[in-house]
Amino acid sequence: MQMISNCTHDAVKKAAKALKDGHLVAFPTETVYGLGADAANEKAVSQIYAVKGRPTDHPLIVHISSISQISKWALDLPEYAMKLAIDFWPGPMTLILKRSELAKDFITGGQNSVGLRVPNQPLALSLLSEFDKMGGSGVAAPSANRFGAVSPTTSLAVEEEIGNLLNQEDLIIDGGSCEIGIESTIIDCTENIPRVLRPGAITHEIIESSIDGKINTLKIKQLLKTSGFFINHYSPKAKVRLNQLAKPGEGFIAMANMPTPIGAHRLASPRSLEDFAKVLYEALRNADRMKLNEVKVILPSGNGLAEAIRDRLNKSSTKNE
Ligand code: TXA
Ligand code: MG
Repeated sequence: MQMISNCTHDAVKKAAKALKDGHLVAFPTETVYGLGADAANEKAVSQIYAVKGRPTDHPLIVHISSISQISKWALDLPEYAMKLAIDFWPGPMTLILKRSELAKDFITGGQNSVGLRVPNQPLALSLLSEFDKMGGSGVAAPSANRFGAVSPTTSLAVEEEIGNLLNQEDLIIDGGSCEIGIESTIIDCTENIPRVLRPGAITHEIIESSIDGKINTLKIKQLLKTSGFFINHYSPKAKVRLNQLAKPGEGFIAMANMPTPIGAHRLASPRSLEDFAKVLYEALRNADRMKLNEVKVILPSGNGLAEAIRDRLNKSSTKNE
């Protein structure tokens, strides 16, 4: 594995070529780092599953360079999905759409839908467009962590997570810290009305104002193969417990206006919801780097991004209940 820092245009081309040759490239997006492979290359995609230790029926998001690439991967877009794509791509939003011939079972986990996203990060976008120029159609990329673990938001975190599992020709592109810090909003666009499968920075309110209509908020009974529907996700090794004060020696994460309990290790003091999302995963990772046994987190209140933060933290803590 090679880490590319200070990524030049030539380095981006080298990374696109590595993808085209069937190797893995971990790259920054505005949400979290992704572990990329050529989405049309079954062997390369199977390497993603091996490195992540992820069940193979669990679908991957295909990252495309622009909205013009949608029709390669998806069919019969509802009008509202087109509206969302126009309004929020490039951006922290994944659309689940009816799949085309190109989206094989090894990408979709055998489902008839495919997840698509145009990320809003300069290095990611230039990697995707160089990959297009080489004849590629899209880059499959889950978050670059082991299955169930915390998503990486820095290149160092990627290296710590999976560095020793990558092959010699695989690459990690360093693009600094991710701007948003939690994964994209996933919107199921396979029905008449959109449904949020995973909350994120594109919030319910933002979606409804874009489509000038309501989203479907009825709970689905069927277990969809989405991280959001799995317990034991986004989990550090330390136990995460919510809305309790930390004891001496424990980690503590809360908004800046909450004082640190005596003897606790303050891991983050965000001043806004945006800041909370941005620093959360590194704070949880630091708990593990410091070998803390337990982290107490005071959940942020309110709608919008606060819902997405609570969603992730509720899942990080589930295994401890
Ligand atoms: O922000 C993000 O979305 C990041 C960056 C790298 O783009 N990616 C990411 O990928 O979070 P991943 O694989 O860790 O989470 C994507 C989730 C998975 O839980 C997967 O099951 C779900 O998206 N997903 C993908 N395709 C789907 C589909 N066709 N139907 C339902 N869920 C799908
Ligand atoms: Mg993930």
